[in-house]
Amino acid sequence: MNNNRNIIVLDTTLRDGEQVPGAKLNVYQKVEFARQLQRLRVDIVEAGFPASSQGDFLAVQEIAKAVGDSMSVTALARAVKNDIDAVYESIKAAHDPFIHIVLGTSNVHVEKKFNRSKDAVMEMGVEAVKYARTLLPQVQYSTEDASRSEFEYLWKTIEAVVRAGATIINVPDTVGYAEPEEFGDLIRRINERLKNVNDEVVLSVHCHNDLGLATANTLSAIKNGADKIEVTINGLGERAGNTSLEEVVMALKVRQNRYGCTTNIQTKELLASSRLLTHLTGLDVQVNKAITGANAFAHSSGIHQDGLLKDKNVYEIMSPEEVGAESMELVLTARSGRHAFKHAVAKLGFDTGNDAEFARLFQEFLELADLKKEVYDHDVFYLVNRYREQAR
Ligand code: KIV
Ligand code: ZN
Repeated sequence: MNNNRNIIVLDTTLRDGEQVPGAKLNVYQKVEFARQLQRLRVDIVEAGFPASSQGDFLAVQEIAKAVGDSMSVTALARAVKNDIDAVYESIKAAHDPFIHIVLGTSNVHVEKKFNRSKDAVMEMGVEAVKYARTLLPQVQYSTEDASRSEFEYLWKTIEAVVRAGATIINVPDTVGYAEPEEFGDLIRRINERLKNVNDEVVLSVHCHNDLGLATANTLSAIKNGADKIEVTINGLGERAGNTSLEEVVMALKVRQNRYGCTTNIQTKELLASSRLLTHLTGLDVQVNKAITGANAFAHSSGIHQDGLLKDKNVYEIMSPEEVGAESMELVLTARSGRHAFKHAVAKLGFDTGNDAEFARLFQEFLELADLKKEVYDHDVFYLVNRYREQAR
């Protein structure tokens, strides 16, 4: 295994994350969040599921136009022509788009969802890939519920879709059932065989957190040869969520000696990404959440505080600054200047706009600050949102 690998990061907050009840965002909010993912330097954004509604189609299209010059853009399709066409039409403005097709491989999916023979389901996948390849040179195929699939059928499907033209194979632990050793083993076995069929195909993983194992499973997959990971900010996603981007990225960074892998993620943007998502969705992050929880860098016991004051390494494995946490809190009041206000806007993951836009926003801030003792994060969020609404 090459131990100096750069792991490709696909963020699916706007697709798997947005499937969460209460997390629905409007098109402007999605574009705002996609811009933050651009600052975070994720490699690929999965922008949505365009066949699901006209609104989703338009949102994916806007995201592709807004960020598609500097990031790869994809969107989800079932293995049917209409879905694939919808993906193609919505992402084609991006510089490096690819189509993502999903189809189940476990017995329960084949028998209960499709009620067809295994061969017939596999053939659907093959035909879908062939069709998608007539539209774009890059196609990802996800073998839904892979971790509960019979290995030989799973492999037969992977081999068939790769021969049909799939360029990325994504192995999902759709219901968060796998455990780290087992999932790592699955990835190793697939990887060994895949190399003999086409060693240019990218092997990817997509884990869910039903047993709280998504981060561990993703890391185990990386150790066993996965070159691409699908993750979300704050671990937002179906049910108990997806693998949290910030946890895997920081584990790879802090334990670089162990994994020997890097990512392109600008870790100083992690906290801003988390805060922006929290504000946009209204879904809070638990206080003890790794990396982005309010207490992630708080030390309360006397023994710990004493140790830290002697040497940070005693109780700190990474610095708060590395993930974008401030070493000092700036309180915003009517006496705050432009610099402090700009810092507060950027801290929440917002684009601060050009000079003229920022000057108008700052004026609105001063008007609000005159009415209050202190301007809090939620006030800044409200101000920026209102400003954006008016500018539309
Ligand atoms: O969980 C899952 O299997 C998915 C696929 C679409 C990758 O979200
Ligand atoms: Zn998923």
